[in-house]
Amino acid sequence: MGLKQIDHGSPEYKQMVQLRYLILRQPLGLGFSQEELEKEKNDILIAAFDDDEMLGCCMLVPINHHTLRVRQMAVNNNLQGKGIGASIMAFAENLARDKGYSKLIMHARNTAIGFYEKLGYKVIGDEFTEVKLPHHVMEKKL
Ligand SMILES: CC(C)(COP(=O)(O)OP(=O)(O)OC[C@H]1O[C@@H](n2cnc3c(N)ncnc32)[C@H](O)[C@@H]1OP(=O)(O)O)[C@@H](O)C(=O)NCCC(=O)NCCS
Repeated sequence: MGLKQIDHGSPEYKQMVQLRYLILRQPLGLGFSQEELEKEKNDILIAAFDDDEMLGCCMLVPINHHTLRVRQMAVNNNLQGKGIGASIMAFAENLARDKGYSKLIMHARNTAIGFYEKLGYKVIGDEFTEVKLPHHVMEKKL
């Protein structure tokens, strides 16, 4: 497995949007608008590959000079539970550190809180609803 940053608008980005749709949006009856995808131009896009197959992905969105928000963390359905998500997060954390950021946050689906806790993230604040699902903000100092 290889991990790398990918470019907005590239063929790999199209693969990423497809994976995100399959794992995160289609099950909820939701999609992506062109406007929503355009806003991702300045985000840090990360994906794990096995040859040409995309195994998983996430994105890092700058919140301020110190903090990045992890979004759209997804691993292909038949590959979950094999350590791919943890590898993507480790890559994301190293990239964030290299770029001078000191904190990562995310809006974690309640069903994914245990995953982020294993990686040292802590829940802060109360539950809220996003894309129809209960979420909590989580954070970790790098
Ligand atoms: C959540 C997700 C990204 C985790 O990626 P993954 O590759 O399946 O996770 P890993 O195999 O790297 O798991 C790392 C550790 O977290 C644990 N873990 C994984 N998913 C978990 C979950 N949903 N709840 C609790 N623990 C979880 C694993 O058991 C493993 O523990 P271990 O180190 O003791 O063996 C992935 O399952 C996924 O895409 N889920 C559907 C979409 C989703 O919910 N995305 C997150 C939105 S906030």
